[in-house]
Amino acid sequence: MKKLVVLALSAAISAGALAQTFPSKPITIVVPFAAGGPTDLVARQLAEAMRKPLGDANIIVENAAGAGGTIGAGKVARADKDGHTLLVWHIGMAATAGLYRKLPFKALDDFEYLGMINDVPMTLLGSPKLEAKNYKEFASYIQANGGKLNLAHAGLGSASHLCGLMWQSALKLDKAMTTIPFGGTAPAMNALIGGQVDVMCDQTTNTVSQIEAGRVKGFAVTTAKPLSDNKVLKDLPSLQQAGVKDFNLTIWHGLYAPKGTPAAVTKRLNDALKVALKDPEFIKRQEALGAVIVTDNRITPEGHKTFVAGQIKSLSAVIQAAGQFAD
Ligand code: MLT
Repeated sequence: MKKLVVLALSAAISAGALAQTFPSKPITIVVPFAAGGPTDLVARQLAEAMRKPLGDANIIVENAAGAGGTIGAGKVARADKDGHTLLVWHIGMAATAGLYRKLPFKALDDFEYLGMINDVPMTLLGSPKLEAKNYKEFASYIQANGGKLNLAHAGLGSASHLCGLMWQSALKLDKAMTTIPFGGTAPAMNALIGGQVDVMCDQTTNTVSQIEAGRVKGFAVTTAKPLSDNKVLKDLPSLQQAGVKDFNLTIWHGLYAPKGTPAAVTKRLNDALKVALKDPEFIKRQEALGAVIVTDNRITPEGHKTFVAGQIKSLSAVIQAAGQFAD
């Protein structure tokens, strides 16, 4: 019995020491999409807000794009379990679970869920060369020409891909649009502005400034209600208001570490995340782009994981109904 007490005590002391000495080197946050996109923006703003609560830690953001975010996520799943390699990812953690027949990780088994960050609406966009002036004209044009047009996204299982899938299923097009994958919606946005692609669905964190500057046309938001209570995109209807029955899509972002990262370290990271999400500067920057910081129990590791498990179930049904899968 005495031996057990000594063992438990030494484990507690080493966990406490670990938490005190963490981080012992620069922390890398992996973003599984190209630099300059909405996921990258959330990660960089979060990194700034987590530096201080982690003792002025050096936090580096690294972009590892490809395959709808699954390459970067797989990289983190296989990283050292010491808390110095983290992942910021979004709804793709749930969408890819139902879409890909083979993945380099298991969403619910290969990560420590550190807590969620925000909820972000999406916007339906058209290239500036389209004549449509509102959603009704836009939808009629797509209905008549869908087979000749292309829709950009950030890879199979990305938020922009999922939104495009759901929206096209709702439109019941005779001929589906051609979908064009990019390493992220930052390069995809450049192609939309340049008229190389016709349509994209992307997060407000990447689209508010482009719509307001007139570089692309915004036609609707994907949340059930318009963003009337936000400071941005007030004049855009929701797709539901525009007649797309029951359409309701919000993109959430979460923070993850490799499964097996010590509990003392994951607690330190969750504590720092909670401080960051209360940082007025971080909140202001996120809200200015239509994002809403998570304040409910999804900020806890348990709440985060339970929420994602539910999203895997609901999104798998949507993806299977659209007859989509990826190898
Ligand atoms: C997505 O469509 O999943 C994201 O916007 C990708 C990105 O952050 O570039």
